[in-house]
Amino acid sequence: MGVEQSQPRRSFLKLASAAGGAVIGLVLAIPGLRYIADPLRRTGGQVGRWVSLGGLDGMPEDHPVQLPVIGDQTDAWTRSKDVKLGAIWVRRQGDAVKAWNAECPHLGCKVGYDRSKSQFACPCHESAFSPAGERLGGPSPRSLDPLQTRIKDGKVEVRFVRFRAQTPEREEIG
Ligand code: FES
Repeated sequence: MGVEQSQPRRSFLKLASAAGGAVIGLVLAIPGLRYIADPLRRTGGQVGRWVSLGGLDGMPEDHPVQLPVIGDQTDAWTRSKDVKLGAIWVRRQGDAVKAWNAECPHLGCKVGYDRSKSQFACPCHESAFSPAGERLGGPSPRSLDPLQTRIKDGKVEVRFVRFRAQTPEREEIG
């Protein structure tokens, strides 16, 4: 009789012990999970940022100009001020402005502009692009990546965003 009564009691104690261990494990895991998720919370998963390029007046109309993009960078658990985030090509057409990310969609080299041929050219593997950013030849899987622009309070702004390289489709990554 005594053995029959102690069996359910032992099972109950095992179950209670396992449940207690799970609760303690969960409580200990919460600070760790919050630490890992913190950078995601801070950036809100945001992709792209608007940057000001100044007034239209300084921009020539006959050829595109390359500009650096400077801004604050939040990288995992660190935040750096005034970092070079990348480079863009900007072309003024009257009161409108077109912009492209200067990274080659092939492997990310910085694309240049060959004024003698009036086309964008990548020095790494010779991808070429028209003045409108369209792919003309070379290993790049797509045309240059266009960026949104707008005029705000007389200043040109561009939405700077980076794209995944080596894919025919355009995918924003940062
Ligand atoms: S990185 Fe531009 S062609 Fe390869």
